[in-house]
Amino acid sequence: MEKLNGKKINTAVFISGRGSNLRSLIEHYKKKNSLLSIKLIVSNNRKAKGLIYAKRSKIIKYVTNFKNKNVSEKKLLKKLFNHKINLICLAGFMKILSENFIKKFKKPILNIHPSLLPKYKGLNTHKKVIKNKEKFSGSTVHLVSTKLDSGKIILQKKIKISKYENEKTLEKKILKIEHELYPKAIKKFLINL
Ligand code: GRF
Repeated sequence: MEKLNGKKINTAVFISGRGSNLRSLIEHYKKKNSLLSIKLIVSNNRKAKGLIYAKRSKIIKYVTNFKNKNVSEKKLLKKLFNHKINLICLAGFMKILSENFIKKFKKPILNIHPSLLPKYKGLNTHKKVIKNKEKFSGSTVHLVSTKLDSGKIILQKKIKISKYENEKTLEKKILKIEHELYPKAIKKFLINL
């Protein structure tokens, strides 16, 4: 990817549900010194609660249901090229992008995952962490590669798990740190390009 040269980077955020990380990225991008310009919000789910933030912030939204992954990804690539998107941030996006999509997009794709990768890849992270009586958990921002939750790690934040923690309290704790971690990780990634 080209160096930034003082320009903001055209970004698309992909969501599937609640969108609290999207909300925090939007708040961040509105700041004057932000390196991001969020141009597009993509969802595979037209009922995703997070789409409300597209409306509120007057950012273009695009919904494609991924029922036929091939077709959805083709249309999506076209949309991304039309909007000159140079960075994708996955934020609670529940579909796995194909190798073909990742290769054709050619630009960086980041993801936020609620565990201390490489531990606890995939779904139901908090449940597994509690079941295994881990002392720590956290969140990781990483580059998306063709292997699930396995690309280069950009930034991680660790938290202590209390004796009384359950899935719900852990999720809440981690979401809170994620809202700071994702913008910070994106900045770190972009200034080191
Ligand atoms: C976050 O915990 C993120 O790490 C994971 O999915 C959750 C999305 O939450 N990938 P939200 O939709 O951003 O509120």
